[in-house]
Amino acid sequence: MSKTYSQLVDPDAGRVGAAIYADEDIYEAEMDRIFGQSWLFLAHQSMLPKRGDYLTTTMGDDPVVVVNKGGGEYAAFMNQCRHRGMRICRADQGNARAFTCSYHGWVYDLQGNLTQVPHEEDGYLSKLDKGRMGATQVPRIVCFRGFVFGTWSSDLPDFEEYLGDMVWYFDSFADRWENNEVLGAANRWTIDCNWKFPSEQFATDVYHAETSHVSALIAQGGDWVTAETKGLQFSSPGGHGTGFYLDDAPDMTDYGDAARAYRAASREREIERLGEHRAVHVRGHNTVFPNFSFLIGTNTFRVWQPRGPHQIEVMAWTLGDADAPDEVKDAMRRNALRTFSAGGIFEAEDGENWAEIQDVLKGRRARRSDFDFTMGLGAAGSEEGFPGRISNIYSEEAGRAFYRRWLELMEGGQQ
Ligand code: FES
Ligand code: FE
Repeated sequence: MSKTYSQLVDPDAGRVGAAIYADEDIYEAEMDRIFGQSWLFLAHQSMLPKRGDYLTTTMGDDPVVVVNKGGGEYAAFMNQCRHRGMRICRADQGNARAFTCSYHGWVYDLQGNLTQVPHEEDGYLSKLDKGRMGATQVPRIVCFRGFVFGTWSSDLPDFEEYLGDMVWYFDSFADRWENNEVLGAANRWTIDCNWKFPSEQFATDVYHAETSHVSALIAQGGDWVTAETKGLQFSSPGGHGTGFYLDDAPDMTDYGDAARAYRAASREREIERLGEHRAVHVRGHNTVFPNFSFLIGTNTFRVWQPRGPHQIEVMAWTLGDADAPDEVKDAMRRNALRTFSAGGIFEAEDGENWAEIQDVLKGRRARRSDFDFTMGLGAAGSEEGFPGRISNIYSEEAGRAFYRRWLELMEGGQQ
């Protein structure tokens, strides 16, 4: 890389160098500077309801185990044995009393402490200091509204402060119902694109929908295609963002007759909890910097896991009202699968765009180009009833904020 980060990325001018999506060195630096210095999504508490429930995931490209250690507390530690580096846990999820490494049999407890070692006396002559050989701990874990996040950083503010004004928007998803539940298993698939394409899109890019998703919108029915869309966009100095329509968006879930009464009552309760603005109008897409995104209305949430500069693994789930009848939960889950999942009609169109751009970036001239982020430059302000910096829905203000935060961290600036 011959250019500095600030030569490549100039958020104030609305310019982002294409190299940041394809350069190996930049990707390597991102794993430390972005993923080592941000709060990262690990799990939802309903995925790990009982003591000993665990799942395996990644923080950036590092494998970790996330465990319910009882008493409403969670642990996360590197999924790497301290003996020779074998994966401590090889399953996607399950319940365990302890984790036994399948190479030489070292045993770790639910917190990742090393508790048993085969041939400790005759092999290690009782000299192995097990207390110093536990799995590497993720030092800070938080469970906020049921969502478990972790960070390697000791300097970052607490999660709620990290979200800042984004809390209000996050709550329109996470605090909509008294009790949340993840519906069904994770949907996991890969897309050949850089992790920043989906993250930035979910933060800032409502603009693409009427072009990219026109056929899916027609297939879904309603007057979405021709309706005049009004909306707003929120952007945050933390790099988070959301764009949402202000019209009373139709719920496109097909609930069937028996479930409609629940839906009507639920809508009233949602308005009571969140107020009219959030319950009805703040229905858009959102990114919590750097790679956690969610859609209100479709109720999908996902983490865009980096797998090198040219690939991501998507891990996506559907969030539902834990107290809803089963047929409502099933309708919500199926609606999310139909629209936003590996085979979802909207999702396929988004992934196609990102993978095509990535393919174009195989070209050296293509990698030297700049992308344009000037939409709505200088036009952001405030809006009564909506916290934070607000611009028109058709704006790239949250995209500029995303890259401003990216630049700040990549240059090693203040956290
Ligand atoms: Fe885990 Fe040897 S690598 S016990
Ligand atoms: Fe889209």
